[in-house]
Amino acid sequence: MSNNEAINNIRTQANIVDIIGSYINISKKGSNYFCICPFHDDHSPSMSISESKQIYKCFSCGAAGNVFTFVKEYENVTYQEAVSIVADKIGITYNNKFKVAENIKYKKEYDIYSLATKYYQNNLKTEIGKKALKYLKERGLNEEVIEEFKIGVSLNDKFALTNIFLNKKIPISDLEELGLISKYDGQAHDIFVNRIMFPIVNNEGFIVSYSARIYNNEETSKYINTKETKIFNKGSILYNLYNAKKHIKKANFVILVEGQMDAIRLSSVGIKNVVALMGSALTDKQINLLKKLNVPVYLSLDNDEAGQKATLTNGNLLNENQIETFVISFSDYKDPDEYIKNMGKDAYIRNIKNKKSFFEYKINNLKSKKNLNSTNELASYINEVLSYVVSENDEILKNLTINKLSTDYGIDKKILNEKLANLKPIKIKKITEEKVKHNDKKKLNKYEKAIDAIIYFMCSDPIYIKMYEKKLGYIPNKTYLSIINDILYFYEVNKYINIADFITFISLKNKNVDILNNIVANSNELVINENEMEGYIKIVKEDIKNKEIAELKKKLKNELDFDKKIALAEKITKIKKGSV
Ligand code: UTP
Ligand code: MN
Repeated sequence: MSNNEAINNIRTQANIVDIIGSYINISKKGSNYFCICPFHDDHSPSMSISESKQIYKCFSCGAAGNVFTFVKEYENVTYQEAVSIVADKIGITYNNKFKVAENIKYKKEYDIYSLATKYYQNNLKTEIGKKALKYLKERGLNEEVIEEFKIGVSLNDKFALTNIFLNKKIPISDLEELGLISKYDGQAHDIFVNRIMFPIVNNEGFIVSYSARIYNNEETSKYINTKETKIFNKGSILYNLYNAKKHIKKANFVILVEGQMDAIRLSSVGIKNVVALMGSALTDKQINLLKKLNVPVYLSLDNDEAGQKATLTNGNLLNENQIETFVISFSDYKDPDEYIKNMGKDAYIRNIKNKKSFFEYKINNLKSKKNLNSTNELASYINEVLSYVVSENDEILKNLTINKLSTDYGIDKKILNEKLANLKPIKIKKITEEKVKHNDKKKLNKYEKAIDAIIYFMCSDPIYIKMYEKKLGYIPNKTYLSIINDILYFYEVNKYINIADFITFISLKNKNVDILNNIVANSNELVINENEMEGYIKIVKEDIKNKEIAELKKKLKNELDFDKKIALAEKITKIKKGSV
């Protein structure tokens, strides 16, 4: 069995309805299955699942694909990992020996980062890296942790990495684009000099940038980070998420810290379900990543004024996105890193156990900022607490809070409840980020619709492959033509075709995946029969004809030779009549 056959075998045995159903609730209407779409902020079920075709599609955001696509997107893993997960779920052993490297879009770029990282790591093991190693050891990081997080050091030589890449004949312009090298007066030099290098791993597990810390001088900025590049978008990465994912599943919660050193410290003492913000507020993309984990978030940000502010900001963001949020508080030290270094792991674990709900944290925080002996401040405190209560979902918590306010400050419960009834809950924030991603389904014109339909038909039954070959044989669009060539190839090799397996094939090639998923989303509802196919072929032919005429007309306009002009004009007439 080839890898493809092995995967298709898994797909055939896994019912997409059961697999999606293992993540979210599915309801059945007639012969169709529906669920809330997990890929956008959905409130009424807009995702439909076709059991017969073994594909899903969201009417609202346009997400579509087969069982592996779903698991890949939902769990945020690679396609191969999604295959393994599905295989596990249905109790099939997916033999590793079948695993082939997926076609990785940015392989060249990842290889460059991998090479640079190995170099930085190696520096730590040499004489010139001794000081840096000493610094790391003094911070309490042992070799194992240094290795695990692939920590390295850039040397005090601004041509060190540049020369390595020059020797390997890697174009300097590529390295400039990737944020590793920069040019000054026409001369290329390293961007990172004399810093501890913390590699940042993206959600697929590839190193895509660095956060680089000073270690033996104080006059420059503490950390410098790689600029945004085509492979690195800071806002869509949470530090350590790739490695923490399985631990988060096991622990059933995720700890969110501010700095990568905090994440490394927690991880080094065995608390591995931790991710770091890298200093900024949560972006929509990061919230989406957290939402997909489907576990409560425990905020453990810095202990200073800024950290408390960040706890409020991020806690509110998480709440607005309906993610259950808790706060781990600790005292005396600046951040979890320093707390654990001084107080030990067990003290921190006690703090985890004593976590507060974000709601409670907010109220305590407010209380600490007001002088409740002043009537004015007390009134404003109570009003603000009520504004928290109104947005709280937990009825018991709501009730308890009202009762407590009433007894603590001697206010009639009726007044509190009346006041509450007049307050509006804060709006639940909608995450639009993912929607945008799928919503490439901009308004299609009739030619584009026809091409989508033809491709969809061809993936559904070989009859339509035959029809295409006989009656059309060509489509005036390179990308779509390449998908069609893949269909022809798939059928040639496998002697059968269906949409679900063809999605696997394209996904493993990692080329045109989004386009195929859009085609599925756009054409999924169409009636499939030969008449319809004829109709679409006609539309595409007309489009080809119009394009040809337009091309000839352009030539005609520029042609100076009289005889050639006549010939062109005749050709145009012929095409118009349809005799060419
Ligand atoms: P902190 O200043 O809290 O750093 O910034 P830290 O994690 O405690 O680092 P150590 O312990 O001094 O080594 C939190 C995060 O903000 C980002 C980094 O990602 C850091 O981990 N940051 C901070 C920057 O990007 N640039 C800076 O100059 C400072
Ligand atoms: Mn720190």
